[in-house]
Amino acid sequence: MNKRKGIVLAGGSGSRLFPVTKSISKQLIPIYDKPMIFYPIAVLMLSEIKDILIITSPEHVHLYQKLLGDGSNWGINISYEEQEKPRGLAEAFLIGEKFIGNDSVALILGDNLFYGNAFKDLLIEAKNNNESASIFAYRVSDPERFGVVEFDKNYNALSIMEKPKKPKSNYAVTGLYYYDNEVIKIAKNIEPSDRGELEITDINKEYLSRKKLSVKVLGSGYAWLDTGTPDSLIEASHFIYTLEKRQGVKIMCPEEISFKNGWITKDKLLEIASLTKNNYNSYLKRIAE
Ligand code: DAU
Repeated sequence: MNKRKGIVLAGGSGSRLFPVTKSISKQLIPIYDKPMIFYPIAVLMLSEIKDILIITSPEHVHLYQKLLGDGSNWGINISYEEQEKPRGLAEAFLIGEKFIGNDSVALILGDNLFYGNAFKDLLIEAKNNNESASIFAYRVSDPERFGVVEFDKNYNALSIMEKPKKPKSNYAVTGLYYYDNEVIKIAKNIEPSDRGELEITDINKEYLSRKKLSVKVLGSGYAWLDTGTPDSLIEASHFIYTLEKRQGVKIMCPEEISFKNGWITKDKLLEIASLTKNNYNSYLKRIAE
């Protein structure tokens, strides 16, 4: 049986966040109490995906390696590849071809934050769906900024367009995609768009035309935030802060997910928690005990 691997795409120029991103990678900027990239990695871990490839720009690879190492602290396997230039999201499958091998793959954008009730169940369902590709749609007020999916009245996807001037719905395609191994072949056959990028939307259109695209709507019980601008960064931080403070839990904490998945032992979690005395580690200690 083939398994599912995961890719986090964490390159790009981060130009909307200049000067912040002049010397650091956008996906390392904190969202309240964790580096941004912890959130998408945690989503893959909730999906019970253990083999994860981080793709980032050549000048930043060493920073991710310093932060995440080989993943063994979280009971996962992390490897790294470089994306020389931001040539588009679909390039992830060309860069990741060797890593994916004969398996299926999930791609998540390094700047996308997800949160919601019973999210894990939805993720496991997408992970185990070998019949079709799975993507997620979320209602937004500014759909023209995203990939937009048009539905019929039964919420079957009719069309998908990248940043349409006149969106056919308010449903944005989020940055989390589950594909079978065919995605490599599909990615090799698409042409760069007018903005010069290999578009993920062209991959989704191909699955749609093959009638192999499942589009799940993330309803009002979910939050999907992207973090590309100074405003969206502070909003995301406030959101995480408010939930964590109010509920006394941590949102998308990789160590906790790993422990609950049975990938690291109580002793390992306590060892991580004992490295420094701070709020994050006290939480890990509490979880372990
Ligand atoms: O966030 C969801 C949206 O992501 C989807 O609705 C769109 O269909 C999809 O095209 C994408 O839209 P954007 O054009 O807004 O993506 P952006 O260029 O901002 O890139 C998303 C992240 O991926 C960003 O953190 C940078 C990183 N990236 C981007 C490109 C183009 C890379 O690592 N490499 C790349 O080549």
